[in-house]
Parts: sequence; structure tokens; C-alpha cells
Amino acid sequence: MSTIAEPTHEAINEAARVLGAGGVIAFPTETVYGLGADTFNVAALNRVYALKGRPSDNPLIAHVADAEQAQSVTADWDTRCQVLAERFWPGPLTLVLTKSPNVPSEATAGRPTIAVRSPAHPVARELLSQFEGAISAPSANRSGHVSATTAAHVAADFKDVPDLQILDGGSCQLGIESTVLDLTQNPPAILRPGSVGSKAIAAVLGSEVRVLDPMRQSASPGTALSHYAPNTQVVLGTRQELLELAAAMNQRAIVIAINLDKVDPPHELIHMPASAQEYASQLYSALRLADSMEGCRILIELPADDSPVWEAVRNRLKRAAS
Ligand code: TXA
Ligand code: MG
Repeated sequence: MSTIAEPTHEAINEAARVLGAGGVIAFPTETVYGLGADTFNVAALNRVYALKGRPSDNPLIAHVADAEQAQSVTADWDTRCQVLAERFWPGPLTLVLTKSPNVPSEATAGRPTIAVRSPAHPVARELLSQFEGAISAPSANRSGHVSATTAAHVAADFKDVPDLQILDGGSCQLGIESTVLDLTQNPPAILRPGSVGSKAIAAVLGSEVRVLDPMRQSASPGTALSHYAPNTQVVLGTRQELLELAAAMNQRAIVIAINLDKVDPPHELIHMPASAQEYASQLYSALRLADSMEGCRILIELPADDSPVWEAVRNRLKRAAS
């Protein structure tokens, strides 16, 4: 059994001790929960891959306290990084840079580059401050499954792991993973959409930012199709399409929608908020709940894409459906 701990000073101190001893712990960030290990401990990094069932070619994000610590794992921190960090850190923006030669290749799946981000969640910040080193952490879910936005989600995905300590930071405020920006490309390219949008990044950089088709590129291996996926088949559509589909189904479907107040039996509705931020923060809980309701399909109303958060939500929904 894993253990869920209230994030007291003592519990965070214990988590930092476990990291220092080469162990793996789960901790909250403002985006999703992370499964953390010491960036400089190869055995601990290997254990993260093993626990998640993560393909060995999918690199990890190193979590750092601040821009100064980011420079201890990167080789080419420049003024662009500095202005981005000043504007967006701590927060949901991950920068891909050339890695420092000191960082073991296990931290980057053998790549010459490393992804770094400074998380905003107070528990993550206290953990980084007590550990005093970089923490490599993928999202704390089994590989390919829906990310975890509560401590209970983490415990459910790793219930057979005997000694996993999970720091409980409540429900993640943002709810979708960080924007991943590759600064080794020219112009810089967004590999994974998140709450920080391309326009905001371009405005800070004063230069162009490419948005790679998030469904088609492979520069960021973890963005391969069929990620963030529930076990039940997911179908996306407009409200009208979903109603027609549901009407033609005898078996129970779970409908996730903003613009519906009820669905006819045997179907079940999970009603979602109309605000992008609230929707994003509830998305993975809704997908996990829908999965547990044992419908034969999950039907999801595809929201509009008129803000960075909605774009990121649509990206995750399309992955869940593929
Ligand atoms: O919000 C987040 O980013 C969360 C929290 C825990 O910080 N973390 C997260 O980690 O989503 P993960 O491992 O689930 O996703 C990291 C993404 C993957 O798509 C991975 O391929 C990409 O970042 N990535 C990591 N290092 C990279 C690198 N060197 N080059 C390109 N992509 C990289
Ligand atoms: Mg992930």
C-alpha cells in the first residue's frame, strides 16, 4: 500500500530524506501530481521508469526551485530563459534546453536536452527547498493512463507499490500538464500545449514561436498518441452528435458535457463547468470517474478552442479518444 500524508513540515522533510536516500515519492504541483526522484541518482530514475511502466525513450522534467537551480542542470541558460523564468516561474511552463554534462543520461532518456520547470504549488516548493536539488518527475500515473490530480488518483494508480509516500496537496488547481517549450529549436517550438499559450510566450520573447501540431509530432516522445487515456473507449463530438449517438445506444454511455443538464437512462451525465480553468481542473477527475462508472463508452462534448487553456483541454481530449 502507498501512504497518503498530510503535507506537514515533518512529512515534507521525510519526503526530502527519502529522495536523498535514492527513493521515489509522489508530490503535488499546480498542474498534476509528479512521481519524483533525485535528478542525479540513476537508480532512483530507473525506479521511476519501472514504477510507471514508462518507455525508456521518454525523457523526464527536472523540477527546480528557481532559475538559478535550473542552471545547474542546463548548459545554455540565456537571456531568453531568464525573461521567460521571470515572467512565468514558478508556474506551468517547461523549458527544453541543452542538458548540463553532469546530468545523468537516465534523467533525459539519453537525449542531449533536458526539460526544466519550477512548480508553483507550495508543497512542491517546500519539498524543493528542503531537498536542495533538482527533482525529476513525470506525471504520477501509470504510463499512458490519465494524469493524477489528487493524491487518491496517485494511490489508485500505484496501489500495489508497497512503500510509496504521497504528499497530499489537495486537488491540483490547473489540472492539465505544463506547456513544453523547446528552446533548442529556432524559432522556439511548443511541443505540448498547456496553460501558458504561444502568444504570451512570443510577447515575452519578442519573437516568433512555432506551435508544432501537437497530434502529429514526435520531438516530445511523451506526446505520442493515445496518452491520457481512460480504459473505456472515448468518443468526441458536438452536443448534437453525442445526443444522437446516445439515442442509438442501448448500453450505458457516460456523457461528459458542458451544455447538457440531463441525459436519458440508461446513460449517465457528468456535467462540466463552462469556464476553461474550472473545466481543466476537473478534467482528469471526470475521466477517471467516467471510467469507474462502467459504461460501454464515454461520450465527450468537444469544447471550443478560443483560449490557451481550451486548446490544451482539446489536445488532452483528442488524446484520450485516440
Ligand atoms: O505539468 C507537468 O509538466 C507535470 C508536472 C508533474 O510537472 N509533468 C509532466 O511530466 O507532465 P510527463 O513526464 O508526464 O510529461 C513530460 C513531457 C513529455 O511529453 C516528455 O516527452 C517531454 O515533457 N519532455 C521531457 N523532456 C524532454 C526533452 N528533453 N525534450 C523534449 N521533450 C521532453
Ligand atoms: Mg504524463
